[in-house]
Amino acid sequence: MPITTCIFDAYGTLFDVAAAARQAAAEPAFASIRDTWPTLAEHWRLKQLQYTWLRAVTGAHTDFWQVTQEGLDWALEKAGHGNAPALRERLLALYWELQAYPEVPEMLSALKSAGLNTAILSNGSPDMLDGAVQSAGIADVLDDSLSVQSVGIFKPDARVYDLVGERFGCAKDEVLFVSSNGWDAAAATGYGFETAWVNRAGEPVDRLPWRPKHRLDDLTGIPALAGV
Ligand code: LAC
Repeated sequence: MPITTCIFDAYGTLFDVAAAARQAAAEPAFASIRDTWPTLAEHWRLKQLQYTWLRAVTGAHTDFWQVTQEGLDWALEKAGHGNAPALRERLLALYWELQAYPEVPEMLSALKSAGLNTAILSNGSPDMLDGAVQSAGIADVLDDSLSVQSVGIFKPDARVYDLVGERFGCAKDEVLFVSSNGWDAAAATGYGFETAWVNRAGEPVDRLPWRPKHRLDDLTGIPALAGV
């Protein structure tokens, strides 16, 4: 089936999750993380994701904003900044206005101009996604932001991927699902979507029962993959 619908993961795929720590580290008030911010950002992200999976398997769902804060608290303590409320507050504020990767606006415009459906499908809560979409200035080239909040469980539960067909009325094989998270792209392959893994960091592929169908270094090749 031709692709009619392009669906994007949000954090790490359209929005640069390392940008919050990178930006805070460049501010004089937070010189304490000037050299160590990449590890802080990595631990923050890893713990945030682990907490989503642990909450999903134990039936202890909560808002993505809460696991984002809890992941940061773990990462700050690990880095020796467990009692740095101003740094914590600044990093959390920056998470609401993450930069989009530079190729994002043009890539989404190409898809919309060709008449495809475009949307985010994310663990993020609707207000977090709204903040990021507005600050990146990409609201005009997205039809919707679909959040796990309406199903009450995090990715990669199949009920999350079901939101796409429910919103757009499309078959699974009409959907190109794009994620920088290898596990997300892999699970979406298992679900039945066409999938692209955006592997900016050159990570090894996740050893799971499924594989992403396509691998890209960034998002510039997405319109071509979608047949535009
Ligand atoms: C999301 C996370 C997994 O946006 O990146 O859903």
